[in-house]
Amino acid sequence: MPKLCINIDHIATIREARKGIEPDPIIGAKLAIEAGIDGITVHLREDRRHINDRDVLLLSSILNPQSSILFTLEMAATEEMLAMAKKIKPGLITLVPEKRQELTTEGGLDVISQQKYLTNYLQNLHTSNLQVSIFINPNKKQIQAAKEIGADYVEIHTGPYAENPCKEELQRVKESITFGRSMGLLTNAGHGLNYENTYQIAQIPGIEQLHIGHSIISKAMLIGIKEAVQEMKEIIIKNSPQAISA
Ligand code: PXP
Repeated sequence: MPKLCINIDHIATIREARKGIEPDPIIGAKLAIEAGIDGITVHLREDRRHINDRDVLLLSSILNPQSSILFTLEMAATEEMLAMAKKIKPGLITLVPEKRQELTTEGGLDVISQQKYLTNYLQNLHTSNLQVSIFINPNKKQIQAAKEIGADYVEIHTGPYAENPCKEELQRVKESITFGRSMGLLTNAGHGLNYENTYQIAQIPGIEQLHIGHSIISKAMLIGIKEAVQEMKEIIIKNSPQAISA
């Protein structure tokens, strides 16, 4: 059965809309753990638009190597992130491409065009005993290149399937998982998965982890509204001039 890892960047995105302290993604992570999540995933971006250094440091102290919850750090293959990864030692590093203007990660990492750089980069991470995954489009040549640079895992980009959940896109994801495993890679999948399209991906044999964020956080917000409104209403009722003078 694939493990479910929740991407909590989306909680931090709401916090950053006010540049305040709530909602705190660390509290979100703790609640997800109480609910039975298998892993917590964060993307520390160069521009720190959602998750910040404080979040990552706190998570690494909660989800230390003794924890049964997998801590995945998504990051660009830069020198700054290399130093951060070595400092916090997450259970898994997922290398992703990063563009400042994008709303979210738009595509898989182009491994073929930077094979030499990435080979050295992965060797460096491996010397610190860190495991590395590559977020990759469902494309056999890129998956093969990921194997050649020494990746431990690939995470197959399910965005194209999520945008167009047709037989062909599903088949591309299935074949990529099978191909990755045949090359000796461990295989994950994620991006754009939601309550309507995940069932077809969950049925694919051989997926280690599913990394899902936006749809879970969106649902959590909506199913939490009733309780949140009731709690605020109670404060107003209890403190109304009528209640105080009674
Ligand atoms: N996997 C990777 C590599 C990602 O960059 C993201 C988005 O942060 C996800 C999975 C989760 O995608 P979504 O938020 O669409 O579920």
